[in-house]
Amino acid sequence: MDTITTERLHLRPFTPDDASALFRLFSLPEVARWSGTGTPMQDVTEAYARIERAGQRAGEHPAAALFATERRDTGAFIGMTLLVPIPSSGGADRDEHEIGWHLHPDAWGHGYATEAATALVERAFAAGMPQVYAVTDVDNVRSQAVCRRLGMTDLGLRSDWYDKELRAFSLDHP
Ligand SMILES: CC(C)(COP(=O)(O)OP(=O)(O)OC[C@H]1O[C@@H](n2cnc3c(N)ncnc32)[C@H](O)[C@@H]1OP(=O)(O)O)[C@@H](O)C(=O)NCCC(=O)NCCS
Repeated sequence: MDTITTERLHLRPFTPDDASALFRLFSLPEVARWSGTGTPMQDVTEAYARIERAGQRAGEHPAAALFATERRDTGAFIGMTLLVPIPSSGGADRDEHEIGWHLHPDAWGHGYATEAATALVERAFAAGMPQVYAVTDVDNVRSQAVCRRLGMTDLGLRSDWYDKELRAFSLDHP
């Protein structure tokens, strides 16, 4: 898997060395609450396991990946951004991809999520994906604001993915 460089960020594959930083990120309730079960990580072994499963989560598409996301100026790890298959509700077999972002609160409010996601959208379309989706918890207004900054279309509340009702957004290949 290759890396992505943007104006201020570097997106690269995870390695086991990222486990402590990933643990610090997902042990924060304000980050964990919007992902998976919503429970903060309790132990760094959970972060190692997540890194180990990254390839599996990214699936088959060559452009899909989970990215350790760093500031170029300081090298600081600021979070995880991703372009991955989006699990259909009911286990339906659909070939759709989502973009996502989970940043440390220290890195909120600088446009980093939007900058990384813009690069992921370009990557998806360059690789021939017809559209990308993003799904957000109904009250995750910060994440919904990222979708709007990206120019995504608000699809409203949808239950097509993750077996739950989420506010979904899409962006078609131009
Ligand atoms: C969702 C999340 C990534 C959004 O982060 P964010 O920093 O608000 O989003 P952006 O990167 O788009 O930054 C936009 C903010 O930076 C400001 N900003 C500053 N410099 C900027 C620049 N150069 N370019 C763009 N925006 C800039 C914007 O004005 C905006 O500020 P505001 O929130 O006060 O309106 C972050 O809140 C997060 O990680 N939350 C926890 C995990 C989560 O919810 N993940 C999503 C699951 S669906």
